[in-house]
Amino acid sequence: MINIAIDGPAGAGKSTVAKAVAKDLGIIYLDTGAMYRATAYYAISQGISVTDEAAVKAMLEGMSMDIVYEDGVQQIYVNGLNTTPFLREHYMSKAASDISALPPVRYKLVELQQQFAKTHDVVLDGRDIGTFVLPKANCKFYMTATPEERATRRFKELTEKGQSVDYDTILNDIIQRDYNDSHREVAPLKQAEDAYYLDTTDLSIDDVIAQIKEVVHIKTKPVEQPPAPVPAAVEEKKMSKRKAKRMKSYYQVQTHFGIYRLLRVILRPIQAIFWPIKIVNKQNAMIEGNAVYTCNHYSKVDTFIPCFALFKKEAHILAKQELFEVPIAGWFLHKMGAIPVRRGEADIDAVKNVLSVLKNGKKLLIFPEGTRNRQGTQEMAEFKTGTARFAIRTKSPIVPMLYYSSPKLFKRNWLYVGEPFTLEEFYGARTPEKMHEATEVVRLKMDETRKLCNEYVANLKNKKRRK
Ligand code: DC
Repeated sequence: MINIAIDGPAGAGKSTVAKAVAKDLGIIYLDTGAMYRATAYYAISQGISVTDEAAVKAMLEGMSMDIVYEDGVQQIYVNGLNTTPFLREHYMSKAASDISALPPVRYKLVELQQQFAKTHDVVLDGRDIGTFVLPKANCKFYMTATPEERATRRFKELTEKGQSVDYDTILNDIIQRDYNDSHREVAPLKQAEDAYYLDTTDLSIDDVIAQIKEVVHIKTKPVEQPPAPVPAAVEEKKMSKRKAKRMKSYYQVQTHFGIYRLLRVILRPIQAIFWPIKIVNKQNAMIEGNAVYTCNHYSKVDTFIPCFALFKKEAHILAKQELFEVPIAGWFLHKMGAIPVRRGEADIDAVKNVLSVLKNGKKLLIFPEGTRNRQGTQEMAEFKTGTARFAIRTKSPIVPMLYYSSPKLFKRNWLYVGEPFTLEEFYGARTPEKMHEATEVVRLKMDETRKLCNEYVANLKNKKRRK
């Protein structure tokens, strides 16, 4: 089955794009927003308040919903009545947003959507498709635009239809609906980690459709041969036997740290001259046993600085497999205890290795953004959920660390170590939603650490100036 998920806030252009993509692929488009609208419409028609959870729950027990396509256009029948002509009324938007926040409504409609996607090739648009309804969709998109741009589009659309509308009212409605949809308890509007992000503010709808179609075509292209089974550790066929053997050995994580210690003795003074970095609150990092250290990541050098400075032995970092293929670099990384990871896929070998080192009481240094910040700004990109997952699975404390700025040759810099914390409230949790929540906690801690770090450096600079 082909399942394509397009999520995003109201007015981002999702439905136009979803229809075009469905048409292009010759598959069905399911407008999930209309399902919430139809439920709200039915509640109103029964005199039930869309915010009264108990009454709506009772109503759902006697409510059937059928989605049918007449001349290729989706129609939603509720208890035999076609609600479609009434769903686009202005007041229905807020009512749908309100009723969609009620958990019983979500459970019922999500189940219908999942059933539908199981039996049809379909493009779905909504708020929670990629994160909650179909976490395994073939491709996911997150489309957005500034509230002002979305309000302008809506204003144009309605005035072209001859309706007299007020821009400020539309803008306020959009802002209110964004807030409602992204702050509700169950499955709020959020970008899935593996979704393509598209800010359409400065793009024409045709550009957006073209971009999305391109991704969809790549992702849904029929595979001529069945895909090879997940490579055990290394894609051996593509390499010479010797290289494959070497790569395989790199997947056996280093447990002897003699060479690491030697490299540390040699390289630490060199680092101190070239990249003079002071570690602030070093005592926070001195944890007995397993721990996950999270840090922002600017350049190749900043990976080993904390290892050398903080750990006499056993510091493990994740490094992309390609780096291990470079002869000397591969050897060096291996000796440093780095764990190879194949990016862009769920690398089970890497996950196993990480869990095993942490369960064995070792330390892991991880960059929660998953990639380098090449702009060198203090702002951090979105966090991957790996940090939280590993810390939860192994009950490891997390130590937040931050470089004040990108390490530069001969320039003074600081690595600020925040207070360690745990994700105890998530122990035992496994769902993607919980992992996102836990990742939010990690993010907040890193933000706090950023504040403390900046205050520390500002104080230091002030003191120097006063002298
Ligand atoms: O996309 P729309 O404007 O027709 O959606 C109406 C409301 O329904 C929206 O404010 C939030 C809710 N909705 C949802 O909660 N989850 C979805 N998958 C789709 C819509």
